[in-house]
Amino acid sequence: MQIQIEKILDNELKPLYSDPGKLGFGQVFTDYMFTMRFQPGKGWVESKIGPYTPFEINPAAVVLHYSQEIFEGLKAYVAPDGRILLFRPEQNAKRMYSSAKRMCMEPFPEEYFLESVKALVNLEKRWIPKAPGTSLYIRPTLVGLGAALGVHPASEYLFFIILSPVGAYYKEGFNPISLYVEDFYTRAVIGGVGEAKTGGNYAASLMAAAKAAEKGFTQVLWLDARENKYVEEVGSMNMFFVFGRKLVTPNLNGSILPGITRASVIQLAQSLGYQVEERPISIDEVVEGLQGGSLTEAFGSGTAAVISPVGSLYFRDKNYLVNNNQVGDVTRELYTKLVDIQYGKAADPFAWVQAIGAL
Ligand SMILES: Cc1ncc(COP(=O)(O)O)c(C=O)c1O
Repeated sequence: MQIQIEKILDNELKPLYSDPGKLGFGQVFTDYMFTMRFQPGKGWVESKIGPYTPFEINPAAVVLHYSQEIFEGLKAYVAPDGRILLFRPEQNAKRMYSSAKRMCMEPFPEEYFLESVKALVNLEKRWIPKAPGTSLYIRPTLVGLGAALGVHPASEYLFFIILSPVGAYYKEGFNPISLYVEDFYTRAVIGGVGEAKTGGNYAASLMAAAKAAEKGFTQVLWLDARENKYVEEVGSMNMFFVFGRKLVTPNLNGSILPGITRASVIQLAQSLGYQVEERPISIDEVVEGLQGGSLTEAFGSGTAAVISPVGSLYFRDKNYLVNNNQVGDVTRELYTKLVDIQYGKAADPFAWVQAIGAL
């Protein structure tokens, strides 16, 4: 792939954020973006890195009417020795391929995905924040264009990547969050598109999330759509429940996102001697575990949220504290071990991290 680069003059570059400690999530964007188009008869063409700028889009484009859209989320980290690291980017490339297939879209080739991420991040390396807990969030996105109404897959596609220097995903930081267990609205259903990283899943989640936020909760914990009984996941995280030295996480049933952090936590926990069960876990089992004391901790896992301790669950008019609303030892151990690998501060026995350049 030959990437055309449209340079921005030095004096026209944006000023960097002033306080990396106040970045929050997804508020600031860098100078450049990557774009590439799929055109019938031509394939993937026009790979380009140019200024971050609004798109011009045909009002009849498929994405605007029928939501043919998928995306990914990964991060670039700076190691203490100045290397720029990506965490398992090939897994994001793979998941984006599967999401495209599920949404009947032209998949973006995995090798192009990795190449374009690396080229853009290296060009934008001055934006990677160095303060603890910060990173450069990478958002590859694929949308269906083509200008014709009537429900059909698009004939043309746009792939793009934008970058955002980020801090903590939740205002709580690495502190316990509160979850509202939603037992009316559902996010996704088996046979639907829950396991694809497509915008519609998130649109479907907004109303319940807004309702939960109004009541003061950090996030919604979703239950399965058929029986309203089994735990699925949180808005942007997979869930883990800790029973002493055993971790239980909902199995990949087709309606939850196959999280890359989830897969990594499973492997990491097993290597540390924890027993891990991937299986359906009902909200009743969770509540009973909390009441009886066998469920000792709970946490969510995701690229944006990393490992996020859960301090309470609100279910059917009752609030249940988890580990007395404190960060537990197991959650802290897994968080520290994972983050140290991601930031190149500890050995990487699983070969998860890829160095793509240096500052
Ligand atoms: C719905 C949902 N579940 C789980 C996750 C965690 O996935 P990952 O660990 O790959 O970031 C995400 C975040 O991408 C998500 O949006």
